[in-house]
Amino acid sequence: MGKYFIFGGILTLLLFCGCQPKVQKKKQVIAFSQCIGSDAWRQTMLEEMKRELSFNPDIDFLYRDAHGDNNVQINQIRELVKQDIDLLIVSPNEAEPLTPIVDSVFQRNIPVIVTDRKTSSGQYNAYVGADNLAIGKLAGQYTRTILHGKGSVGLVTGLSGTSASIEREKGFMQQIEDAATIRVNGVIQGDWEKNKAYSEMRRHIDQMAQNDIIFTLNDQMAMGVKKALDEAQIKKDIKIIGVDALPGPGNGLEQIIQNKMFASILYPTGGTEAIRTALAIINHQNYRRENILATVVIDQTNAELLALQSDKIKQQQYDIDKRQEFITEQNKIYRDQKSVLNVVVVSLVLAVVFGGISIVVIKSNWEKNKHLEIQNSEILAQQKQIVDMNSKIQQAAEIKNNFFTNISHEFKTPLTLIIAPIEDLQLRTDLTEEVKEQLSRIRRNAKKLQRLVSDLIDIHRISKSKIKLHAALVQIDPFIQQITASFRPLFKKNRISISYVNKTRLKEVWMDEYLMEQVLSNLLSNAIKHTAASGRIEIILEENNFKDYFYLRVMDNGLGIAPSDIEHIFDPFYQGASSRDGSGIGLAYSKQIVELHHGQITVSSKTGHGSIFTLRLPIGNNHYEPAELVKFDNAEKSPMQQQDILDTTRTVKDNNLSFRSNTSKSIMVVEDDDEIRDYLRSLLEGDYNLFLAKDVQQANSMMKTHFPDLVITDIMLPDGSGMDILKDIKAFYQTAHIPVILLSALANEETMMEGNKLMADDYIAKPFHAELLRIRISNILQSRHQLKEKYSSNVEQFDNAQAEQVNENDKRFLNNLAAIVESKLSDQRLSVDGIAGDLHLSRVQLYRKVKHLLDCSVSEYIIERRLKKAKSLIAEGLTINEIFSSVGFSSASYFASAFKRKYGQSPSAFKKELDKK
Ligand code: FRU
Repeated sequence: MGKYFIFGGILTLLLFCGCQPKVQKKKQVIAFSQCIGSDAWRQTMLEEMKRELSFNPDIDFLYRDAHGDNNVQINQIRELVKQDIDLLIVSPNEAEPLTPIVDSVFQRNIPVIVTDRKTSSGQYNAYVGADNLAIGKLAGQYTRTILHGKGSVGLVTGLSGTSASIEREKGFMQQIEDAATIRVNGVIQGDWEKNKAYSEMRRHIDQMAQNDIIFTLNDQMAMGVKKALDEAQIKKDIKIIGVDALPGPGNGLEQIIQNKMFASILYPTGGTEAIRTALAIINHQNYRRENILATVVIDQTNAELLALQSDKIKQQQYDIDKRQEFITEQNKIYRDQKSVLNVVVVSLVLAVVFGGISIVVIKSNWEKNKHLEIQNSEILAQQKQIVDMNSKIQQAAEIKNNFFTNISHEFKTPLTLIIAPIEDLQLRTDLTEEVKEQLSRIRRNAKKLQRLVSDLIDIHRISKSKIKLHAALVQIDPFIQQITASFRPLFKKNRISISYVNKTRLKEVWMDEYLMEQVLSNLLSNAIKHTAASGRIEIILEENNFKDYFYLRVMDNGLGIAPSDIEHIFDPFYQGASSRDGSGIGLAYSKQIVELHHGQITVSSKTGHGSIFTLRLPIGNNHYEPAELVKFDNAEKSPMQQQDILDTTRTVKDNNLSFRSNTSKSIMVVEDDDEIRDYLRSLLEGDYNLFLAKDVQQANSMMKTHFPDLVITDIMLPDGSGMDILKDIKAFYQTAHIPVILLSALANEETMMEGNKLMADDYIAKPFHAELLRIRISNILQSRHQLKEKYSSNVEQFDNAQAEQVNENDKRFLNNLAAIVESKLSDQRLSVDGIAGDLHLSRVQLYRKVKHLLDCSVSEYIIERRLKKAKSLIAEGLTINEIFSSVGFSSASYFASAFKRKYGQSPSAFKKELDKK
């Protein structure tokens, strides 16, 4: 991470350096206070200054024009000083009034350059301008030369308080006074202005017009004098000499060339020099205090030349300006390009930095990846080892489990063979009490072992996931009531009250009825065992606020469970002090069943006060896998009909019913003797589901709802004869297939003959041999099963050869069924209800009968017929598209998949095979 921070730091620094504007140095400020800015000479001065400043863009320039007013100029200087100027250039209007303010500026250590005119104190850093005294003298000498030492001159002065006027006049007068034959005839004041000079000239025209030469202290006033002379139409050739000789239209130089003025003393404006001196001062370079500009007399002899030079300079100046503009432009481009370059450089640096970071990151990632790859391959190797180990463990577990299951099964047979003879022995009347008691103990413990073995097999099946859920909608109230009813004798015996309250809106819930019955039975039998006489057991059905779970609570007020036992109570084989199970398996088994239902079982208990076992199960069926749900389709059972079927097969552990499993065959036993009935029950309940009837009436009512696979009936019954039961069974179309064994002490030929006539399937005399009975039962059911196999695999070939084993009624039934199904084979809506209606049977009766005779469901039978028909149509050469709808399939694909499932190859493959033959 550290390196990223370093990179981040560098980056920030670069960005900071690249993008932060440079700290701006305060620009230096040069201020220029001009006494009057309107005339050409001073405008030229200003232009020169600006031009010079254009080479120094870092300098700010402040310019103020006092319009010839001393006070204005004083105030302007004050205002400029306040602006924190670095240097003041001043051209004072009049020397005296301006001296204090200029001195104060100087005394503030603000450099002062005086230009053209001066203050009277001389307190300044530098002076830039011509020597006005010298100019006056030059003008005097020139006058003397022109006049050849003899004549008269007039003088036009500037503003009286200005140094330029004073000095020029002084210098001129000195020269004139030296020449004795030249006299000064008239001095007028023009205040530097053309108009003032003109008006003064007019006032004194007579006097002034007598002169040979009139010297005006600048060219502007010379033009006023000329105008006045011209207006007065003075014929005399009066030569006018001025000062400035400024080039440009209308200025002195042009006046000379046009002969309107005789001569002018060149007086440079000094703008350029003033700025150069100023820059030297503020840059702390060497500079001269007195910068006296050169001067010369300009007249006809050199005016043209000067004008040319001036034009040339102007042209050059223009070029310079252009170049300056170009440079400015280039500067701008340069600055822009510099900015772009800066951005590019910063970007480049960033790219390099990021590139560097990327390389470092990529390298580090590469290293990490390499490391991960190594780790990964190590993990994969470990995984493989684990998988190998796991499969070895699984194999070992499988071997162990199989051994376990086989051993458990092996236990069953000897146990049954122990119990049956004991029960046989118990029936004997010649036993002493002691022997009876011992037999009873042996039987009790053998039974206990038998239950334990069954539990072991069940729990084992669950743990191996062999038990699959067959969840269906179950009517919850009847379900619970039936289970509690089966415990009623025990409740009665122990004088325990039982109640069931449904506090929910639920009428039906999704569960595997068979498995859940075992859970509830287990909880109830535990509760009974641990509840004292006169105790109370309550079953309550509740649901949670979200209505997505229901709670089935079994509460007792019995002994309760010790806290030390509670956490182990659902462990297999746990037998604590207050263990609930005889074997310790029941609750573990129940827990597994509840978890198979995606629910939980919990317990809360207080010793001496009782226990509450709570099943928490999801409402609805979304939590089940499709394979865990009982499937329904048009030709199959609806949930309610399924319920009907379940109800018909439902046998609970009461006196009349004994349920083993859904797949076990069922036997109805009709026997009035309680002991023999119980004995038969104990003999058969391990292998079959049993319906136990005491008399003809009970037997008849059971036959209406249950369709046993076999009936064993005594002949002498309290309310009639077993022969009647046999007769009824064989007479009815719906029940004729059920084999009947007569069991009777009436072992005479007559009775046996009667039985045979009524088509009894076997006859066993009392007292019977238990194993013999079991073998006989098994043989009959086996032969029925073989017959069914034969029959269902080749229904249409059913013929007389088999008729001897299937009675007439069954034959008729099967022929009718085949005829109905065959006639409606192309009807996609062919349904179990429709067929049952055509055969005048209930749906349940049809289902049971087909199951019994053909060992398949009605819908399986229909599909089989359809596929067989399809097979024959393929053989006839019809195409698959022609066939599928004619045998009642809704689509070719559904047909193809059903065909393939049945025959192991697709219809087209089957056709190809046929074509080859
Ligand atoms: C311009 C001017 C010039 C003259 C100078 C004297 O204002 O009158 O013509 O030479 O000032 O200060």
